[in-house]
Amino acid sequence: MRQALSVASECVPLIKTGGLADVVGALPGAMATQDWELRTLLPGYPTVMRQVPRAKQVWKSSDLFGGSARVVAAKIDGLDLLILDAPHLYDRDGTIYLGTNGQDYSDNPERFAALSWVAAELATKGIGDWQPEVLHLHDWQAALTPWYLRAMGGSAGTLLTIHNVAFHGIAPAARLNTLRLPPDGFTSDGFEFWGQINMLKAGIVAADQISTVSPSYAHELTTPEFGMGLDGVLSGRSHDLSGVLNGIDTGVWNPASDPLISTHFKTARGKAKAKAELEKEFGLPAADGPLCIVVSRLTTQKGLDLLLDALPALVDRGGRLAMLGSGDRQLENAWLRAAEEHPHVAVRIGYDEPLSHRMFAGADSVLVPSRFEPCGLTQLYGLRYGAVPVVALTGGLVDTVIPANAAALSAGVATGLQFHPITVDALAHSLIRLCELFDDTSTWTCLQRNGMKHPVGWDNSARDYADIYDRLCSQ
Ligand code: ADP
Ligand code: GLC
Repeated sequence: MRQALSVASECVPLIKTGGLADVVGALPGAMATQDWELRTLLPGYPTVMRQVPRAKQVWKSSDLFGGSARVVAAKIDGLDLLILDAPHLYDRDGTIYLGTNGQDYSDNPERFAALSWVAAELATKGIGDWQPEVLHLHDWQAALTPWYLRAMGGSAGTLLTIHNVAFHGIAPAARLNTLRLPPDGFTSDGFEFWGQINMLKAGIVAADQISTVSPSYAHELTTPEFGMGLDGVLSGRSHDLSGVLNGIDTGVWNPASDPLISTHFKTARGKAKAKAELEKEFGLPAADGPLCIVVSRLTTQKGLDLLLDALPALVDRGGRLAMLGSGDRQLENAWLRAAEEHPHVAVRIGYDEPLSHRMFAGADSVLVPSRFEPCGLTQLYGLRYGAVPVVALTGGLVDTVIPANAAALSAGVATGLQFHPITVDALAHSLIRLCELFDDTSTWTCLQRNGMKHPVGWDNSARDYADIYDRLCSQ
């Protein structure tokens, strides 16, 4: 097997705030089918360190960005992990990115620059007879690696995968030294961005290859509407930019065997009990319309403010909504108020993985009204569990859902609904359409059946990544 190192700030099952963790956790299994052995380098947050009590030290330093640090190797759930134990950087009371005051840690640039530094050093020196040919870097947290690798004389090929261009990793120019970056890189062709250091841009200009998590988002990234100021630099590298669609771990997300749900099913007919349980769990009355769910971070990206305004279209037709999410305080409060106003809406604020599985199992439909969505995973879980997705026409939502238009319905291939433009009106219209389709039992069953058969695993995408890895090795 050939060796690669994947570098990220989150990884299932150890630490997760969003889809990045699912993807990083699934990638080693996916790439093993292509004869690539992935190790995963992760920061040693307290919760991660607690899960690796008997680990072997494989690297150490007396001064990693201001303190001593070591890397330990451990195997968990089939993952081959390298964990950067650096208490001065990661042993904090807040979340992995935010302090207890809800603000980013002021040294986030250094915290993740250190991760990138260690990735470059491990790749350059190797560990025993392990020496990765490829570094697969995820988001801004790993994006300085190519610069450090260059400085250390390392020869591994680098692939930067952009999961979300909204997060840049910005640091003041005065931190060049503490970030161990070369001053001559602080130019508009390098990592300078409006007078500051932009770590994602650093990766975009220096990585050998760049990818993002769906073909549609790969195109959108090069446009001013979606590029978040990096569209120019991404366009400049369009020959090295590809879109590789995320898959999901079909072993973990399998309605026929999921240990987190009480009723297993292979066809949508078996969902009835799970649906009744979900209604009960959320205290929702039984009704004729579809039982919809949302499982999401509550941020502007996810468009859930649009859904608040479009709710009457659903509840007036007997539809119900169970929502699980957390994030922006104002949105959390607005959703709690909506639940008070509408008996057909129930809201749980928080993060609850087992509950999310029960929700996909019991739902008729999952709603994903995102303003932008690099890939999105919840529509994929929805497909797999017979919860018909209603999605905005953007990014990976374009590439994963076959909309129930007349052509797709007559060909019998539709799997969900897409709406465009991304407005309250268009969303409300698609919710009305959802209720109509739900009333038409044979069409609805066809939608569910198509969705449950739709390939949502990693097979094709693992091959695409293997092609990129091969290209890196021959460069
Ligand atoms: P993003 O990474 O932008 O948040 P994705 O759809 O790619 O969006 O991935 C989100 C992941 O996080 C999914 O696995 C989803 O089920 C999970 N998730 C989001 N919010 C919650 C929550 N409140 N409770 C449980 N799981 C959640
Ligand atoms: C990001 C994106 C999401 C994507 C996930 C995993 O968080 O917002 O669309 O599915 O990364 O790639």
